[in-house]
Amino acid sequence: MPARRRADGVLELGGVALVVLARDPRIGTPAYVYDLDAVAAEARELDASFEGAPHLVAYAVKANSAGPIVKTLVERGCGIDVVSGAELRLALRCGVAPSKILYSGVAKTDDELDLAITLGAEGIGAIQVESVEEAARVAARASTHGRVARVSVRINPGVEAEAIDTHSYISTGHDEAKFGVPLASVGEALEQLSRTSSAKIVGLSSHVGSQFTSTDAYLAAARSLFSVAKQVRARTALAFVDTGGGFGIDYGEGCPVRPADFIRATRRLQKESGLDDLALYCEPGRALVAAHAVLLARVIQRKIAPPTAASPERRWTMIDAGMNDLMRPALYQARHRVVPLEATSDAKTRPYRVVGPVCESSDDFGVHDLTDDAREVAILDAGGYGYSMASRYNGRPLPAEVFLKGGKVDGFSARAPLDAWVEDRLRAGGS
Ligand code: LLP
Repeated sequence: MPARRRADGVLELGGVALVVLARDPRIGTPAYVYDLDAVAAEARELDASFEGAPHLVAYAVKANSAGPIVKTLVERGCGIDVVSGAELRLALRCGVAPSKILYSGVAKTDDELDLAITLGAEGIGAIQVESVEEAARVAARASTHGRVARVSVRINPGVEAEAIDTHSYISTGHDEAKFGVPLASVGEALEQLSRTSSAKIVGLSSHVGSQFTSTDAYLAAARSLFSVAKQVRARTALAFVDTGGGFGIDYGEGCPVRPADFIRATRRLQKESGLDDLALYCEPGRALVAAHAVLLARVIQRKIAPPTAASPERRWTMIDAGMNDLMRPALYQARHRVVPLEATSDAKTRPYRVVGPVCESSDDFGVHDLTDDAREVAILDAGGYGYSMASRYNGRPLPAEVFLKGGKVDGFSARAPLDAWVEDRLRAGGS
């Protein structure tokens, strides 16, 4: 369950009062707090939507790669979608079977391909090739190792960019995107792979974007994928079709569809396309984790600029979390709600622009209603693409992380010490 306000005004997540965590000197702020039980419940609900049909939920680990999160999802039966050798190693260390790993990404290095091809007896579940050129490289690497690589072709279904209702930076299934094999080249990629004995085509996939709040673009892509799959399977036996990730969450502006709705609609389409005997794979990232976490920050100070002839009074609440900790607002103009950790219903609030300490104008979390004396705040829905996109810009240590389970803290890692960055930068160049 996402963070909720108790009757006494205290904000809680997973049954734990967040103000207690924010004031715990062993943890420090900024701190991400995750509810592992809610993440597990999210995975269970999605799993149930397949109603027993063969499937794989391959969690896109880029959304949140914290060990306790990944292990929770692997224990619930999820596979993992990775996009780098490091993510692949992490997935293995979290206990996922190689056969449940999918490897996406437009420019995998030879070393990364080698790892994916040579793992265990048969390599990973599928290397998702994203170009004709990559298909040739995968076959060549597998041949060098005397292996047969399991491959799926990620098609770019060419859904009109305008039809994809999300930010242009996270829209991937249109003709100008670098992702996936263009429809016109799918035949050539398959041809390339069929000619060699070093690759086995096991599936077809697509992923057209992220944070969809309606099923339209997802289903348009699935329709295109299924129509290619129908033609391909006349010549090549397929084991699965993979319709990717992209299920949106409610960041406060509404999201009427749940991940299960995407799956139920996709399965209907799959049946209509005569592909019901194939396993259905999907690759959700955000939807499994984002709503079940917050980023805690302390208020450092307020700043008030008196009105001038040109502008009214301006008010800022300055917090100790910045765009380096949560990059989404700066990068995609994304809005995350910012709320106080303690709020009585009669407290007088006013609009404040909430900003961080980083020296960039884009270090700005937008305008939110806060009291004049708020001490700590929570940035909501921060579990997806939060810590995983964080940086140490401006000499700022990476944030703390706290994991909740069974209504209490299951483990935490404190914010890195300030000196760690200083030492690291001094070591640059071997000095
Ligand atoms: N599969 C592939 C091949 C992907 O590239 C992605 C995300 C996913 C699955 C998972 O998509 P999801 O279910 O999380 O929407 N940093 C951005 C999102 C970038 C998504 C990149 N690819 C954000 O914060 O909104």
